[in-house]
Amino acid sequence: MTALLHNADRDIIRAAEMLARGNLVAFGTETVYGLGADAQSPTAVAKIFEAKGRPHFNPLICHYLTAEAAFAHVHPTPAAEQLASTFWPGPLTLVLPRRVTCPVALLAGAGLETLAIRVPAHPVAQRLLAAFGRPIAAPSANRSGRISPTTAAHVLAQLEGRIAAIIDSGPCRVGVESTVLDLSGDAPFLLRPGGVTLESLEAAIGPIRHGISAERAEASRTLRSPGLLISHYAPSLPLRLNATSTAPHEALLAFGPPPKNAALTYQLSDSQNLTEAAARLFEGLHWLDATAPTRHLTAIAAMPIPTHALGRAINDRLSRAAAPRA
Ligand code: TXA
Ligand code: MG
Repeated sequence: MTALLHNADRDIIRAAEMLARGNLVAFGTETVYGLGADAQSPTAVAKIFEAKGRPHFNPLICHYLTAEAAFAHVHPTPAAEQLASTFWPGPLTLVLPRRVTCPVALLAGAGLETLAIRVPAHPVAQRLLAAFGRPIAAPSANRSGRISPTTAAHVLAQLEGRIAAIIDSGPCRVGVESTVLDLSGDAPFLLRPGGVTLESLEAAIGPIRHGISAERAEASRTLRSPGLLISHYAPSLPLRLNATSTAPHEALLAFGPPPKNAALTYQLSDSQNLTEAAARLFEGLHWLDATAPTRHLTAIAAMPIPTHALGRAINDRLSRAAAPRA
């Protein structure tokens, strides 16, 4: 049984008690729902991989209440401190070398010498972290390789019965995952575009290496960020990108004025606003995936979306959703 909790104080306390007993609790963050476990308990962390059906080599993000608490577990660089003061709490994850004293379970970091840390902005996430008093390891609360959840209903559809509880924290404001920035090497490297734009990161710390697919493949190959496997975030239906028209068997993921005659349309943003589109992206994919088959449609076509600002994260998720399945 999965308990459905809300944001009352007693619910948050109950959730923290469940975490302390080594159980899994899904909770809302500003990006997507997380599937939380006590980061310092290898057994609890192992349950995350089991519930998600996730390959064990894929490391998790550790969530902290404050930058100070996070930096007690890693060696921060000056750029990390600068970024933390500008963007935390918020949708940014930093990858830094673990301290030898770091008590986070090695399994959470998949045995890597680095740790991904983040201070989330969502009040429910913050209250849960405060009540629990220790870091929470949390990947997105979806089955491995499936679409990330931005509502409690998405989580329950994939994980009901596999987790102790979910705190319904409403729809996620940002709607795409945090930006993952690797600060453990010689130069900052963007591992995953996300809720904080590359442009704003570069305004804070200068040029950031990013996006070259060969580098990305290399990062994945060397397990620097194995979560960057090409096929990810996949709906059940095949997805076609940069569509300017639809075939009779296709449902449409629209961004602005849609082509005529689409049998079924989910509009990401009428006004072509990238922030709105990011917030609605996973909801749209979930909805089309569930609704298209009821109309005998067998594929999804997505309209082109610009690649600047949050468009970078949106295109990253869409291209992964469209990639050939492993
Ligand atoms: O917005 C988010 O980041 C959400 C919410 C719940 O915080 N979490 C999330 O976690 O998206 P997950 O596990 O779905 O994605 C974590 C990403 C993966 O691509 C993983 O490979 C990468 O971060 N990652 C984690 N630890 C890493 C490390 N030590 N080095 C490199 N990449 C790492
Ligand atoms: Mg994920």
